[in-house]
Amino acid sequence: MCGIVGAVAQRNVTNILIHGLHRLEYRGYDSSGIAVVDFKSNLTRIRCLGKVKNLENALKKKKEQVFGNIGIAHTRWATHGEPSEINAHPHTSGDIAVVHNGIIENHEELRKILQSRGYIFASEADTEVLAHLIEWELRFSNSLREAVQKTTIQLEGTYGIVVIDRKNPKCLVVTRSGSPIVIGFGINENFLASDQLALLNITRHFMYLEEGDLAEITYQKVNVFDIKGQKVERKIIESNSKDHIAAKGQYHHFMQKEIFEQASSLKNAIEGRINKDLILTNGIGVHITKILQKIEHVQIIACGTSYNAGMTARYWFENLAGVACDVEIASEFRYRKFITRSNSLLITISQSGETADTLAALRLAKKKNYISFMAICNTENSSLVRESDLILMIRAGAEIGVASTKTFTNQLAILLILVTALGKQKHFISIEKEKEIVNALNLLPKQIDNLLNLNQEIQYLSKGFIDKKNTLFLGRGEFYPIAMEASLKLKEISYIHSEAYAAGELKHGPLALIDVNMPVIVLAPNNELLEKLKSNIEEVKARGGILYIFTSIDTDIKTDKGMTVISLPSISEITAPIYYTIPMQLLSYYVGLIKGTNVDQPRNLAKSVTVE
Ligand code: AGP
Repeated sequence: MCGIVGAVAQRNVTNILIHGLHRLEYRGYDSSGIAVVDFKSNLTRIRCLGKVKNLENALKKKKEQVFGNIGIAHTRWATHGEPSEINAHPHTSGDIAVVHNGIIENHEELRKILQSRGYIFASEADTEVLAHLIEWELRFSNSLREAVQKTTIQLEGTYGIVVIDRKNPKCLVVTRSGSPIVIGFGINENFLASDQLALLNITRHFMYLEEGDLAEITYQKVNVFDIKGQKVERKIIESNSKDHIAAKGQYHHFMQKEIFEQASSLKNAIEGRINKDLILTNGIGVHITKILQKIEHVQIIACGTSYNAGMTARYWFENLAGVACDVEIASEFRYRKFITRSNSLLITISQSGETADTLAALRLAKKKNYISFMAICNTENSSLVRESDLILMIRAGAEIGVASTKTFTNQLAILLILVTALGKQKHFISIEKEKEIVNALNLLPKQIDNLLNLNQEIQYLSKGFIDKKNTLFLGRGEFYPIAMEASLKLKEISYIHSEAYAAGELKHGPLALIDVNMPVIVLAPNNELLEKLKSNIEEVKARGGILYIFTSIDTDIKTDKGMTVISLPSISEITAPIYYTIPMQLLSYYVGLIKGTNVDQPRNLAKSVTVE
């Protein structure tokens, strides 16, 4: 989704800004732009539709090198107004240039007021309202900071806003509410961004602005003011995050790299949290034991892939820990009246920790009577992490592909560890069962490494999808949410319409869709539901459906007319949902390749969905 970079220095910041935008490309966007001001107060603004590369080329085409010691840059993911150069940021008004993440909900009302004051709008973007409003307020203010403060009190919605003033090319003003902003500290130069990844190559020292904060940033100094306008100190932290943005290495795409990284990312997730036989409760949080004892209900909230991880864990919470669990999509949870169960733990799951709906749901839930708020997250210092009481980092490393892969399997591993710790505290899990789970988790990285040998077989299989318009994924029990995840992956990467069904539901409607043009992918591990699933397979076969069945080598399901069987090595039933996810990811990846889509940045999608 939209990305922001800003810099103020004594040197030319243009390349820093462009480089920062490149590092934010993975988030998904449709246009980009930059505005820089030099020492003599000349403002240069360039905006382009499409990739940051286009912006870079446009800069190169300029007769003179574009120079600015202060500047702002942006990648835009269209919300108000189509993707176009005119709607791209920065937006300007008089001497003011502005970039903005988020949505100004009362932009229409503000637009009318500003038009009545004589402002002429060049775009359809809500951000242009901000530029004119700040320009207006500056006329009656002593500083840019004061003008921005007067502007934000008139806004409804969410924002991370950065403003520069051509007449004062020494100071960036930035403020946030609902959209993250991080300030990066250099030596005689300072930076800001919507994601620390944009700045990791130039600094390791960061300060996260809190809700409602405003900062004035010069090359020498950063002054922060809270929502009441009081000067405040915010902690400066040293990041030890590795700069993962680097390279795809031997891989063609980040998605491919991230699929193949899963053995090692899983090892990271479990390290220090389990040993040979035991779940190490301390490894998931020092104060967690007391809370686990009290839990009678778990409420999970998440979106997309993270929601699918939560749906899988629901089976585990009830089967393995004997604790009731509800899972809800954040955008639904936040807009309905919900009843808080007694002694309920609220868990949010998110790769980015910045998903607007998940964050809003957490903030809403915090007004209710939950016993604690846990975040299962991949991004250190994200808003979700900072606003939760208990943190379980999934340690998958940076995920650049828009489609979540390694973060899903790491989320599942962490959830399984949490469930086991809970089951142990509740005396629901026997010592033998705990041993079995721990053993299964310990074996998993190696088993996944071996499973990736199916790569070529799945690549071959993907050819069968080239002319397909629809696909159905079937699973039962905890394999139903794995089918949901497989289906989400296929649709986002290949643009093939796809649905996931609990296999038992087939006869209640979807069976009508089955014909020779409808591939049906079945997840059929060797478990207690296999016999039931076989009946569902027969229902499809009898109606001429094309079946692809992923099963265990020790079942009697064999390739037959209209039925391709992919046999996987047999594995513990407990970790099988994580294991069966891998071939599903490979399948989407290869179908995406065959279809010629941009697998790392599928159209219309963003890595981190920071608007609702
Ligand atoms: C899945 O591949 C997508 N990237 C998307 O569904 C994602 O899982 C969703 O937007 C939630 O993001 P989060 O985990 O960062 O909160």
